[in-house]
Amino acid sequence: LEARVTAHRDYTIARIDDRLYSAFLEHLGRAIYTGIYEPGHPTADKDGFRQDVIDLVRPLMVPHVRYPGGNFVSAYNWEDGIGPRDKRPTRLDLAWHTSESNQVGIHEFMDWCERVGTEPMLAVNLGSRGLEEARNFVEYVNGPLGSYWGDLRKSNGRADPWNCRLWCLGNEMDGPWQIGQKTAHEYGRLAHETAKALRAFDKKLELVVCGSSNADMPTYPEWERIVLEHTYEAVDHVSLHMYSHNKANNTANYLALSEKLDRYIETIHSVIRLVKANKRSKRDVTISFDEWNVWYHSHEQDKAILQGMQGWPHEPRLLEDIYNFEDALQVGLTLNTFIRRSDVVRIACIAQLVNVIAPIMTEPGGPAWRQSTYWPFYLTSVHGRGTALQLAVDSPLYDAGEIADDVPYLDIAGVRDEEAGTVTFFAVNRHPAESMTTRIALQGFGPAPRILEHQVMTNSDLRATNTMEQPDRVKPRAGEGAGIEDGTVVVTLPPHSWQMILVA
Ligand code: AHR
Repeated sequence: LEARVTAHRDYTIARIDDRLYSAFLEHLGRAIYTGIYEPGHPTADKDGFRQDVIDLVRPLMVPHVRYPGGNFVSAYNWEDGIGPRDKRPTRLDLAWHTSESNQVGIHEFMDWCERVGTEPMLAVNLGSRGLEEARNFVEYVNGPLGSYWGDLRKSNGRADPWNCRLWCLGNEMDGPWQIGQKTAHEYGRLAHETAKALRAFDKKLELVVCGSSNADMPTYPEWERIVLEHTYEAVDHVSLHMYSHNKANNTANYLALSEKLDRYIETIHSVIRLVKANKRSKRDVTISFDEWNVWYHSHEQDKAILQGMQGWPHEPRLLEDIYNFEDALQVGLTLNTFIRRSDVVRIACIAQLVNVIAPIMTEPGGPAWRQSTYWPFYLTSVHGRGTALQLAVDSPLYDAGEIADDVPYLDIAGVRDEEAGTVTFFAVNRHPAESMTTRIALQGFGPAPRILEHQVMTNSDLRATNTMEQPDRVKPRAGEGAGIEDGTVVVTLPPHSWQMILVA
């Protein structure tokens, strides 16, 4: 196979918002308890945070971590998680049928964020609660001393406001599974009034309103239109969620799902523009893709856990997908799509970060390790910052049935980093059997480009996984044979592979 790509220095899409590489942590399964927090673990610090997990999270450079949910937030009382720990109530979590000890609350989460070097993206409960609690929560987190909530925060050990800028107005409010599900009109009104109240407190907050839970919901995309008609002038982003799966064991179709993702973004972008025009508005609402990942490996196991559950367990092993090599390709494809749509996608959160559909796994009392999907996320987060390039791509195509007709075997994104003077390409060869000779013509980048780094992920076994015992079976290795001929990068992409090519 052969593919040709042209990259011109000045032919760009947008400045990539670093927040594209954000993540998500929910009070769910073992994400918090025995995930980031496990007092008594050999690596735990004085506050009970696992240092081995912090050491795996830090290199990912996630700008924001969304918290505390997810479905969990829709019946959560944030006040349960403040004050002396021995006085905090244990509550029944209706979203995941577990017991929430509240040993981690907002203070502990903010401490963890500081240790990891990230910023929070907090969600308010618009399911079982509403405007009043949202307002109180925001004032507790950001309010000045001399006010009721600011002084209460101080009495709980934190005088300075945390100054969290980014807030989600509920979670997946269209979902029948959601506690306090609403119609688009009910939610739109509530979200608008809540946004107004939060802005009356601080007009610089960035607010995310809920879009559909996914592009297969019966109310999609009318939901977005109606919700935005109510909220357009008061919010900054609309949230999108998508989880990919290969239940049908059809790799060609599975790897084409990023085309569906692209259509999803395009549709909502069109809805945003429609509402903007209807409102004669000057404002640009953008997209927060605040839940995305692969999610399906654990479905059967979760059914068994939930059906066999006696009572309301603490930290059950829920949503513990074990990712394989093929899933790493999927994560790479998703990130490429976000880079290409960085004109409208400003925030994206891999869902989630630890143990629950996550790139990082832990064993209670034992080690922490990287899943296969950690690697494309890590390399794209570190090297995919700067300006997205509008590449001209000529690739052979295939038919992916109900997903899409003309899917290019080559999926590629390019990022120019002005400060570092580099351009980085992230490429996936979707072909199952054939290598692809790819020529990337570099135009306007300077006289003598050279390849600084070439990383490749390939594996003869699509189902290969990393485990506690074998944590390094799936990982990148240095690529071979890439070169530059007359200003053109020439590289051979193995079948079913992901790679990063860094050129200076
Ligand atoms: O990330 C797991 C769950 O997926 C979240 O709680 C919910 O928002 C979504 O349906």
